[in-house]
Amino acid sequence: MKTVITFGTYDLLHIGHVRILQRSAALGDRLVVGVSCSDLNLSKKGRAPVYTTEDRMAIISALECVDEVFVEKSLEAKGEYIQKYGADVLVMGDDWEGRFDEFKSLCEVVYLPRTVGISTSKLIADISDINPDPESHS
Ligand code: CTP
Repeated sequence: MKTVITFGTYDLLHIGHVRILQRSAALGDRLVVGVSCSDLNLSKKGRAPVYTTEDRMAIISALECVDEVFVEKSLEAKGEYIQKYGADVLVMGDDWEGRFDEFKSLCEVVYLPRTVGISTSKLIADISDINPDPESHS
């Protein structure tokens, strides 16, 4: 049984998220996903996610390619999560290329290319452009 682990916020689920999760799952037999809690996202990206941690976890766990989901409470705890979930492979997007090489002593580390042209931040910006005055629809 080869276990793959990956991490992310997965707010406003989009095709880039689905593709990296499917490609991660294809690297092993079991995919475990750490979903960053909202506080972590606030400190990491400077804004709270649109969806709650519970909703983001429910959405990710509903995907066929995902076997287990847990809350990622600390960016510094990746090594502990790798050991706790018995991961053989850590997958990160290639925007993090090289940044997680320290975990090569614990498991294989793979950086997968991101899907071009989409991100949660871009979606939020695009939606704001479509509807610059959200109050007008309340
Ligand atoms: N990801 C991807 N392709 C994209 C966007 C994200 O492969 N176009 C991957 C990231 O590399 C990461 C995972 O999806 O492994 C979760 O990324 P996340 O930061 O939650 O999504 P983003 O869309 O990048 O969010 P943001 O714009 O807020 O940074």
